[in-house]
Amino acid sequence: MFGKIDVLISSEEIEKRVMKLAEEISNDYKEKAVVFVCILKGSIIFTAELCKKLSIEDVEIEFMTVSSYGNDTKSSGTISIDMDLCKEIGEKNIIILEDIIDTGRTLKYLVEHLKSKNPKTLKLCTLLDKPSRRLVDVEADYVGFTIPDEFVVGYGLDYAQKFRNLPYIGVLNQE
Ligand code: PRP
Repeated sequence: MFGKIDVLISSEEIEKRVMKLAEEISNDYKEKAVVFVCILKGSIIFTAELCKKLSIEDVEIEFMTVSSYGNDTKSSGTISIDMDLCKEIGEKNIIILEDIIDTGRTLKYLVEHLKSKNPKTLKLCTLLDKPSRRLVDVEADYVGFTIPDEFVVGYGLDYAQKFRNLPYIGVLNQE
């Protein structure tokens, strides 16, 4: 069963940090067209909140569904693309939006996959980074928070598809 959820990052802290990330990205991409690629399902809330705060005008939001965890708290290690991008991205500035980088396998796989589509530029933005769990070499260009090795839920992140709706990032203590 589920245990108590302790708040790790409050909704106010997330709000402030996401605003900063949006300002940083807006500054880096002034006058440029950007396609944000939201990696479903975990990045849905982060994508919505970040994109609302951008001050650049030429913005598109696209979606991919990628999964690696199943219903466990540990990554299965097998990445599958359940829904690919539905448009050409050659000559576009792409920013991948992730909720979390854990082992790094998902992002590494995604980077290779999207690079094969020849984007003009490709950058990575993650709300959370758990570098202590990294198994493959991948780093994000924009990081919201670096967190310790705890299983976190909320703000898009789930345990067995639940808790994505929490407005904060919490640590799920399992009983
Ligand atoms: C989570 C998360 C990242 C990935 C990170 O997705 O959203 O995409 O795992 O883990 P990694 O760095 O070890 O590869 P998940 O497969 O749980 O799907 P979800 O986004 O639908 O929850």
